[in-house]
Amino acid sequence: MTTVGKKPVIPVTELEREAFCQSEGTLLRTRTLEEEFRVAVRWQSVPARYLRLTPEEIEQGILDAREALGAKVVVLGHHYQRPDVIKYADYRGDSYKLSERAAAESSAEYIVFCGVHFMAETADILTPPDRKVILPNMAAGCSMADMATVEDAEECWETLSSVLGDGEVMPVTYMNSAATIKALCGRNGGIVCTSSNAAGALRWAFERGERVLFLPDQHLGRNTALKLGIGLDEMVVWNPFERLGGHTPDALRRARMILWQGHCSVHTRFTADQIRRARTANPDVNIIVHPECRLEVVAAADCAGSTEFIARTIREAPSGTAWGVGTEVNLVQRLAAEHPDKTIFCLDPVVCPCSTMYRVHPGYLLWVLEGLLAGTTINQVSVPEDVARDARSALERMLEVRE
Ligand code: 13P
Ligand code: SF4
Repeated sequence: MTTVGKKPVIPVTELEREAFCQSEGTLLRTRTLEEEFRVAVRWQSVPARYLRLTPEEIEQGILDAREALGAKVVVLGHHYQRPDVIKYADYRGDSYKLSERAAAESSAEYIVFCGVHFMAETADILTPPDRKVILPNMAAGCSMADMATVEDAEECWETLSSVLGDGEVMPVTYMNSAATIKALCGRNGGIVCTSSNAAGALRWAFERGERVLFLPDQHLGRNTALKLGIGLDEMVVWNPFERLGGHTPDALRRARMILWQGHCSVHTRFTADQIRRARTANPDVNIIVHPECRLEVVAAADCAGSTEFIARTIREAPSGTAWGVGTEVNLVQRLAAEHPDKTIFCLDPVVCPCSTMYRVHPGYLLWVLEGLLAGTTINQVSVPEDVARDARSALERMLEVRE
């Protein structure tokens, strides 16, 4: 049963969420690691020789290392990576596309994942044991994933089973969660989803159970359930620091969606007011947002979807159209640069990259590539097989579900 009066814990990654925010309208310029280390967040230590390399020296080093390593290495890059890192990616995509790509990788010995920790864990789970997955900076986590610890999630699961009965709840976790949470879902007949296939995964879950426990993003869970016709009065938010998640047993029995109290610190910056201002400035503007945004933001937008959906929709839109975008600023500014015939801007006037994605500085990429050249695997992400086995069941169910 949930402990009474447990002290709420705010993840360090959440406390550091605004470290790179700036009021100027353009993205931060990559500087030496020594200079970037002045931003007071946790960075992984690197050998001193990397600290003072200029961006140009780093670039040359990466190009040389990649040439020497050849087909032994494949680099995957999430859309939110900074420009000075994504340019080295052999494949770019959202977390769904990159997990499919990792699962399909049949030749490269090393997968260097320029993204965050849960993505590298997923790639490791989905690839055979002889492929090694590397995360350039081990401090590149995700504040949302950190809001659901496996201890709290297991406690919640036991509580729900004792209040509602065994087999009464279907667990669904967003990709943005630790492998141990994915394993909890896999062990209990549940599934993983991404923002690309959340509706399909929820439909899958409701075909098998009356209720869903959705971890760890309450906003994606709520937005998706509403789309499937589940009312707000059928949803409760589970606060892991309160007894029974903050509800009575009756309220839990009435709920069809039990939403974990987690959120993305980047997407909850977007507001309905920003959308009103964009529409006032240009009544023809199209508003497109990520479903990790709050309900009122998704409701005020013209459409919502994963980073891949956002990139594709804007790419395929007619020339001359205008787009106010509610997602991470690296992707928005890249789309703006790639489509000069369209007006593309971030809804948030403050330039606020995801502070964990941003920790993958090109200097770290050079470090791990040169490590491979020297015969050392630096920063391998390796999920223990007992966790990986259960997590894989939930991920394989996900890969079979489409939108
Ligand atoms: P996608 O599933 O759209 O890649 O999003 C991942 C993410 O971290 C969004 O914040
Ligand atoms: Fe996590 Fe949000 Fe960053 Fe995505 S944008 S990695 S959910 S903190």
